Amino acid sequence: MAVQLEGVRRVFDNNHVVIDRMDLGVDAGEFLAVLGPSGCGKSTLLRMIARLSEPDSGQIRLQPNGARFETSFVFQDAHLLPWRNVLANAALPLELMGEAKPKRDERARAVLEQVGLLDALDRYPAELSGGMRMRVSLARALVTEPRLLLLDEPFAALDEITRFHLDVQLRELWQRRGMTVIFVTHSVSEAAFLANRAVVLARSGGAIKLDRRLELPAVRNNELRADPRLGQEMRLLLGAIEE
Ligand SMILES: Nc1ncnc2c1ncn2[C@@H]1O[C@H](COP(=O)(O)OP(=O)(O)O)[C@@H](O)[C@H]1O
Ligand SMILES: [Mg+2]
Repeated sequence: MAVQLEGVRRVFDNNHVVIDRMDLGVDAGEFLAVLGPSGCGKSTLLRMIARLSEPDSGQIRLQPNGARFETSFVFQDAHLLPWRNVLANAALPLELMGEAKPKRDERARAVLEQVGLLDALDRYPAELSGGMRMRVSLARALVTEPRLLLLDEPFAALDEITRFHLDVQLRELWQRRGMTVIFVTHSVSEAAFLANRAVVLARSGGAIKLDRRLELPAVRNNELRADPRLGQEMRLLLGAIEE
């Protein structure tokens, strides 16, 4: 088990119970989508798994052990440093780890190649499209070779074509690297397209309304977007959200 939540509870402002006694296990190598309406506690959940915030009660265990740099987090906003070029942005976590410059540039270049940015290494964030910025953000998250990748609505602000493209790219990266991915989204179509398993949270209290293993082919490409099997999965997820 890569991530194990037991009886996790998170309360804001003394009496606003956002997540109440949540139990959830995520296997190593799984691609899990977490779905739910805005305000249901998805970000709160992800932040606790990332150790950016503590549960009020209950436990969250990470396997191996959640050491720094074994978990990476990608936010909706790319959060790039504007005064650093693409290569230096992607290499930042290695710099924080104390890696020597030749080594970190080599590793950053390799991961930027995987997200299709090899010809943009010298450009600055202001010179990039939203989709390219997000790809730099992904590269920076992957450069430490994390075992666990957490993404909080990373593509929500992008146009649909760019999002489709990044969905395919992320899925390929996951297949190549075998890491555990937890992807938070409010998009039913994106969850069904990307994940192997989807969890739907209730509007409040963090109750799990549906926990489903998606019955879709391993290879996800644009052909699948019009596949009736994807439509069927979307219908099930949507049903659980609206219930
Ligand atoms: N730091 C905070 N202080 C107070 N309330 C918060 C805080 N963070 C989140 N909340 C509240 O918790 C609920 C869940 O928020 P969030 O996890 O961001 O939802 P989601 O990501 O699903 O849209 C919301 O009602 C939000 O207002
Ligand atoms: Mg959120």
